[in-house]
Amino acid sequence: MRTKIAGIGHYVPEQIVTNDQLAQYMDTTDEWIRERTGIEERRYAIKHKESTSSLGVKAAKIAIERAGITPDDIDFIIFATLSPDYYFPGCGVLLQRELGITKREAGALDIRNQCSGFVYGLSIADQFIKSGMYKNILLVGAEMHSMGLDFSDEGRAVTVIFGDGAGAVVLQPTKDENQGILTTCLHSDGTHAEELAMINPGSHGGYHLGTEKFGYPDVDVPGGVFVTQKMVDDNLLAPNMTGQLVFKTAVVKFPEVIKEALEKTGLSTDDIDILVPHQANLRISQFVQKILRLPDEKVVNNIQKYGNTTAASIPIALSEAWEAGRVKSGDLVCLAAFGSGFTWGSALIRW
Ligand code: UT7
Repeated sequence: MRTKIAGIGHYVPEQIVTNDQLAQYMDTTDEWIRERTGIEERRYAIKHKESTSSLGVKAAKIAIERAGITPDDIDFIIFATLSPDYYFPGCGVLLQRELGITKREAGALDIRNQCSGFVYGLSIADQFIKSGMYKNILLVGAEMHSMGLDFSDEGRAVTVIFGDGAGAVVLQPTKDENQGILTTCLHSDGTHAEELAMINPGSHGGYHLGTEKFGYPDVDVPGGVFVTQKMVDDNLLAPNMTGQLVFKTAVVKFPEVIKEALEKTGLSTDDIDILVPHQANLRISQFVQKILRLPDEKVVNNIQKYGNTTAASIPIALSEAWEAGRVKSGDLVCLAAFGSGFTWGSALIRW
């Protein structure tokens, strides 16, 4: 038994935000952003009208329709995001409610693996399908970064990179030996957990990093304080990133985890028909392409239009490539991701 992608879809918000528009709020330029990241524009959801789960719902509806099923056929939901609608509950149940998946009261699992969330979700779904537990799993990767970015000069290195969007797939069992997920590889290294992170608000209370600096004052109650005035005043409620460390680690880990998947399946880089890397930075993807010696037509890049959409980037890119006819039956599709955690992973799929 193997797991196949039976339907795929994506949705990106209509609002386009160009580099020049961002330059109106922070000290940056179109030239700097294009040169360092390849990004030309990104999409932002309409604040107060859209949310991470609503973007996910739109992508999921397309994937479900393309799989030729209805929402009530879904027997498990996996939702990957780092920008959920609520701190809790997760987006999985919000999507379930919105799609009206009520008949089976399908389980909903939320995963928080940031940029590699989709690959992790795919691996989890694969195990559930292969074990025979579920027959129609809906896997969604969605982000609404625009709601939590720092639009001051201080946040510019992070803010210019990220965008909003969603992608979804429906996964089903197949007995066809020439189709489906061949393998997945998952890894992590928490040594650099805070190098690409949004650490406040959280339960750490300064435990890992020093109380004062991270905004937790002593208060006269047995517990802590979730959001403090100091966090607001010192701008400690936004993501932070040590960009160069992330870049340098990514360009090593991407090829490593792709080669691991190829070795596990007895295949080589020449066998790859299409590589869909997580859209972290165009320069990272170009580096990986060069190391693997892949021609341009075998690598999918759409970061120019959407920025880095974290858990949504692979399903959006895969969906666009599929729509454009770049992913055909029998193709060997390679997915790979690296990001916050650090966590990273790869998947090989015979389409
Ligand atoms: O999904 C995984 C998520 N993240 C990534 O994959 C990110 C990986 N890292 C990167 O993509 C790159 O490190 C960045 C694009 C984030 C930054 O590029 P960089 O070439 O590593 O720049 P840098 O951080 O070394 O900064 C160079 C200069 C600094 O100025 P000084 O100190 O040389 O005067 C920054 O302050 O660029 C400045 N800078 C900016 N200037 C204009 C940082 N951000 C900006 C900006 N606009 N947006």
